[in-house]
Amino acid sequence: MSAAELADRGLSLDITDAVATVTLSRPERRNAMTPRMWHGLADIGASLPEQVRVVVVRGAGPSFSAGIDLRLFSAEGVQGEDPAPSAAEPGFEDYVAGLQSGYLWLRDPAIVSIAAVRGYAIGAGCQLALACDLRVLADDAKLCIKEPALGLVPDLTGTKPLVEIVGLPRALELCLTARMVGAAEAAVLRMAELVVPGEELDAAVADLAAALLATDAAAARATKALLAQASGHSLEEQAAAERRAQRELLSAKLAQA
Ligand code: ACO
Repeated sequence: MSAAELADRGLSLDITDAVATVTLSRPERRNAMTPRMWHGLADIGASLPEQVRVVVVRGAGPSFSAGIDLRLFSAEGVQGEDPAPSAAEPGFEDYVAGLQSGYLWLRDPAIVSIAAVRGYAIGAGCQLALACDLRVLADDAKLCIKEPALGLVPDLTGTKPLVEIVGLPRALELCLTARMVGAAEAAVLRMAELVVPGEELDAAVADLAAALLATDAAAARATKALLAQASGHSLEEQAAAERRAQRELLSAKLAQA
């Protein structure tokens, strides 16, 4: 997708060496999101050059994202956006799967994704931050899983990382009250790896990206894959996965030597 096509979907992409920066670029609407934007995100993920090892997701302007563009729920709709299929139609779940593909690639072991969040991350925006591997928050960040308050479930891949990060009771409390979580509480709940003053957000993310890139690329990819599967494995299964990953990693290096 060209830069102009991405811009038309409220997105921009910068790739500098091994770091790709995806910017939600609709600040006048607080980066409210639409299906075309989610498909644009999926397209970025599908066409990421192999050299990219770190993906930063950020929002232009004062807020990361105000979530779904609420005009989609109105009769007027959003110009250029097709109406969503009715839930009664057989293709509804496939339609949502297409939207979810804008989020799922951020967990690919080939990359480490970092959400750089300032201001509000609400609903679909909060789920986008949760879809990333790591979150760096400005001290004015406010996170909110708003969907249940609007009569919806969070369906943009956010429920699994949320439960894994904060645990089931807290995830329940956050979702079913749809309350706002400030940056300081987000750090306590482990929804942020780091909280920094707003003016230091970009530098803190750049430092983190540099530290991630200083690690051996193949080892980093194999280790992310290993860690990601650990919670679904018994100790014995994970030990076996470690042995296998080590053999594969070292064999590949031997073959290259
Ligand atoms: N959809 C469409 N337009 C939006 C959205 C949205 N989600 N959020 C903000 N905007 C628009 C506003 O209507 C306003 O437009 P205007 O300048 O034409 O009046 C502009 O963006 C700026 O918004 P403000 O409210 O003035 O910005 P502020 O920084 O004060 O507040 C906040 C930001 C808290 C995010 C507020 O806009 C808000 O509550 N938005 C709605 C959040 C929401 O409920 N999202 C849906 C979550 S559920 C889901 O994502 C599935």
